[in-house]
Amino acid sequence: MDLRDRHGVTQAVFDPRDSRCAWDIAQSVRPEYVVRITGVVEARPTEMVNPKLSTGEIEVRGETIEILNKSRTPPFPLDDDAAERVSEDLRFTYRYLDLRRPLMARRLTQRHAIAQAARSYLDHAGFLEIETPILTKSTPEGARDYLVPSRVNPGRFYALPQAPQQYKQLLMIAGMDRYFQLARCFRDEDLRADRQPEFTQIDIEMSFVEPDDILALTDGLIAVMMRAVGHTPPSLPLPRMTYAEAMSRYGSDKPDLRFGMPITDLSDVFRESRFQVFAEAVRNGGVVKALNARGLAGISLKMAEDWTALAKTSGLAGLAHIRVQDDGSWKSPIVKFFSEGEKSALTERLGIRPGDLILFAADRPEVVHPALGRLRLIAAEQARAAEGQPFAFTWVTEFPLLERDEEGRLSSMHHPFTAPLPEDLPLLESDPLRVRARAYDIVLNGVELGGGSIRIHDAELQRRIFRVLGISNGDMESRFGHLIRALEYGAPPHGGIALGFDRLVMLLVGAESIRDVIAFPKTQKAVDLMMGAPDRVDARQLREVHLNVAVESSQESVR
Ligand code: AMO
Ligand code: AMP
Repeated sequence: MDLRDRHGVTQAVFDPRDSRCAWDIAQSVRPEYVVRITGVVEARPTEMVNPKLSTGEIEVRGETIEILNKSRTPPFPLDDDAAERVSEDLRFTYRYLDLRRPLMARRLTQRHAIAQAARSYLDHAGFLEIETPILTKSTPEGARDYLVPSRVNPGRFYALPQAPQQYKQLLMIAGMDRYFQLARCFRDEDLRADRQPEFTQIDIEMSFVEPDDILALTDGLIAVMMRAVGHTPPSLPLPRMTYAEAMSRYGSDKPDLRFGMPITDLSDVFRESRFQVFAEAVRNGGVVKALNARGLAGISLKMAEDWTALAKTSGLAGLAHIRVQDDGSWKSPIVKFFSEGEKSALTERLGIRPGDLILFAADRPEVVHPALGRLRLIAAEQARAAEGQPFAFTWVTEFPLLERDEEGRLSSMHHPFTAPLPEDLPLLESDPLRVRARAYDIVLNGVELGGGSIRIHDAELQRRIFRVLGISNGDMESRFGHLIRALEYGAPPHGGIALGFDRLVMLLVGAESIRDVIAFPKTQKAVDLMMGAPDRVDARQLREVHLNVAVESSQESVR
């Protein structure tokens, strides 16, 4: 029989000639039974050696066996290949069985190793791990809050923290200097493969720092976490680019740098072009940009149509293209308008080779960049450009401070405590969207791993930002009065970062979803299938917290 524990599998053998009694018990053992065995570890006979198993050279020759507990037949096989084919819902309902699979045990072990490496690194760098409240007040991070009614304060609610943002700033004001926490955060938002309603951040804050200090500290942290699971870290410092550069070259604020395929500016080439679509775009203050999708000249007509449709949903009027034939000739409805000079500039800037597919977009930069950014990722997927590439990190710095939300109002791109670049401060009221922030994100393989900023430590500037965000004096006092007051008592300059720990573990262990590196995750509908949460509560409990439920929930459970 195969014995499994957290560390792996060992084979035990019983022989009726050794002990008839042990043999009979061993015969009755079924999968997932819990047993206690005594015996002798022996080398396996040469022909029985299993090179695929770390314990494949030995076996335990059983002398006694005791059944400590029986098991019902599991609802799905607990080996990795088989379980990958059963539905996630079934695995989540029986998560305690799912976690018995060697792959899951390995991932939780790796998660632990990464967490310990982070703790040890930050401890050595002089950081204190300080816990902050879970029952707290709303703090804006761009999602909805989870609310908890208060029994002893009728009609009042705690919010679960979307992040410990304000507490960590208050700890700096308290003189703690260097803080970190593996902090649980709660956000009520639409879930995806890399989002859970509760998740963990490596949350960091430091006093008397510049962005460079936080970036260097984080670079070192990433290196030790990678080593903890056997990866060779990339050379440090990790690459950096500004937000403006990321948008212009990759059409995204989280560029995937596992492959090149940059977005190339051709506006100057086509300024006077006979091809009016391009010339007109430039005349109207727009840009003409192109992407060389290497080796994709042969994509099907259907796929070309899909890509054009996608470009149109991004707001482009069309998507011009050139297919470069094997003999080097260009197949395209638009090249007939191009001059020789335009053609040679294209060839040179895009490094055009036989087999390439060139995609063009002409419009305002706000339309062209995201459209080509999306196509870049799709083309790379089609060309399998990212496969087998090493980890590609990059910092993206100098994010805009503000953006317009769907209703056209100004809102903070990160959160309202982010400091603006001093040289942009004069634009705050006159041209707010042009103000850059002292904010940075760390990106890995096109995934936003973490973000942070230097904070506002001046109460007057903090009030000014709230005013720009359209927050009334009354709201300012009730929502943020505690923070503004604290800033008035000698707040040191400070800044920090938070890394999405689950996302980091997912990428470092090669999992597809953060659900695979969280012991007890929730489904896409924010349900814990194993516990049956969220659940109804009885009328007495509701009365105690002074709540009436307006919508009667169905009688069935969320399962
Ligand atoms: P931010 O909101 O960018 O910053 O969050 C930091 C990182 O947390 C991860 N993350 C998530 N991971 C899983 N599920 C989610 N729902 C989820 N939401 C966010 C991401 C993200 O980059 N207080 C600031 C940090 C600071 O300014 O210091 C903050 O929370 O990887
Ligand atoms: P038209 O002159 O509208 O027939 O367009 C000629 C080619 O240019 C077609 O392949 C269109 O898809 C493409 N096109 C039109 N508008 C744009 C645009 N804004 N950017 C890039 N290509 C465009």
